Amino acid sequence: MNNCPIGVFDSGVGGLSVFSKLVDLLPNEKYIYFGDTLNLPYGDKTKEQLIEISARIFDFFKTQNVKAVVMACNTTSAVTYDILKSKYNFKIYPIVQNVSKCIADKNYKKVGVFATNATINSHAYKKQIQLYNHNTEVFEIACPEWVNIVEQELQQNTKSKENIKQHLDEMLKNNVEKVILGCTHYPYLLNVLSEYADKELFINPAKAFAQHIKSDLENSELLSDKKEKETKFYVSANPKQFISAAKLFYDVNEAEEISL
Ligand code: DGL
Repeated sequence: MNNCPIGVFDSGVGGLSVFSKLVDLLPNEKYIYFGDTLNLPYGDKTKEQLIEISARIFDFFKTQNVKAVVMACNTTSAVTYDILKSKYNFKIYPIVQNVSKCIADKNYKKVGVFATNATINSHAYKKQIQLYNHNTEVFEIACPEWVNIVEQELQQNTKSKENIKQHLDEMLKNNVEKVILGCTHYPYLLNVLSEYADKELFINPAKAFAQHIKSDLENSELLSDKKEKETKFYVSANPKQFISAAKLFYDVNEAEEISL
């Protein structure tokens, strides 16, 4: 089991912001990354659609004999994890649930969350953080345009910047101490966000998430005992655009297009 691969998925390049941290911390693992570019943006899908999509991805990873699946996607973690978690016999790591305790432990008075429509409508971050800390007030704002801005590499486009600034201005009215980038695509916007606010304002949960996964695999004695360093990238559409948009977080040399 130890030398089986770890599956990582997201709707597109967003999950690479997590994957890159995972590879830093666990360089000797074998990985399979799936970017569901045919179905993005996940944030505008219904709960039923997201359950069906997630189940299909978990089934694919099952055929690949994975030892664990990393949900490097806030939207599916928020909406589908609770429903699917007991249906598979490998470990499943959902980003929202795995990082919320860490954020709650910081004891912030006011924290903001930028995320997709589906994540915000689920109130998953608010519920999970307040489960551990009732004193943290959580302000949630949906930024549905941001995933496409990242996937199409439109970060420097004037309209994109206006949109980003508008959401940020709205958030700053709440006097938050920190803003969680609650969609794995959003760290690709950090350069633009930090033109309008201190970079330190933003929390990219990827590192804390990767650390959690590392220690849990360690505690479960599931770390690889080989030095394989092998990653296979799959996408459900547009491999060239995926490789191009990925480069801010990871140099993907090859991505195979598959349909699940
Ligand atoms: N990057 C994903 C997330 O963290 C999905 C974004 C989307 O496709 O809407 O929520």
